[in-house]
Amino acid sequence: LPTPGTVEFKNVSFGYPGAEAPVLNDISFTAKPGQTTAIIGSTGAGKTTLLNLIPRLYDATEGEILIGGVPLAELGRDTISRNISAVPQRPYLFSGTIGSNLRFGAQNATEEELWEALKVAQADGFVAEREGQLDSKISQGGTNVSGGQRQRLCIARALAAKPSTYLFDDSFSALDVNTDARLRAALAEPTKDAAVIIVAQRVSTITGADQILVLDHGEIVARGTHEQLLETSETYQEIVAS
Ligand code: GTP
Ligand code: MG
Repeated sequence: LPTPGTVEFKNVSFGYPGAEAPVLNDISFTAKPGQTTAIIGSTGAGKTTLLNLIPRLYDATEGEILIGGVPLAELGRDTISRNISAVPQRPYLFSGTIGSNLRFGAQNATEEELWEALKVAQADGFVAEREGQLDSKISQGGTNVSGGQRQRLCIARALAAKPSTYLFDDSFSALDVNTDARLRAALAEPTKDAAVIIVAQRVSTITGADQILVLDHGEIVARGTHEQLLETSETYQEIVAS
């Protein structure tokens, strides 16, 4: 059986209820623990839809998705949420404190563990500067932190849960290039045994990925490492040039 965390898509297709055309077509890939799988492609290509199928926000219309070798349908909701941390494209914070937001999915985390997660997410600095620090209040919708801070707090929340699978939907694009690079370097250690799937806008975010999937109109049109794709994929070359 594949190790926990392995995400396997087998000929997955998906169409939104009521919509005519499918949004994803015959998607097959395996995201392995200890590896980063990146997904890149133009807006509307289906990247978010693909990620959302993994925690079962929607169910595949055709094909099968397995986690750790077990079909999603056979895993309970609890098991799924315990094993997967997803940072959505529009990250949200709950009204409460920074600490209570970080403990969502990690109820028993110690303060030390929360600070460790914040440090990796490059969020320890601004949290330390806030009055009350972990106890400082987050207003409804997280409007009293900036977009980039909200994104980093949501990454810290994902890390605090210590899952076997991480899903990052465009989570690094609101960060400046340097913070992006520092954050991804810091992620290496805490995610070393997990399967990491990153949707990215910026090519520089994913050049080091073990596997890059190029998604176009719901289909994987090319796959490989950055170097391989530069040689083999026109679509990828266009993305790099844009
Ligand atoms: P960006 O985030 O803009 O880069 O795009 P994406 O690659 O994440 O595409 P996404 O998966 O969001 O959308 C793929 C296609 O599905 C697009 O044609 C969307 O218009 C469509 N779509 C997305 N969400 C919904 C939905 O909730 N209902 C319906 N009917 N269509 C949707
Ligand atoms: Mg998207």
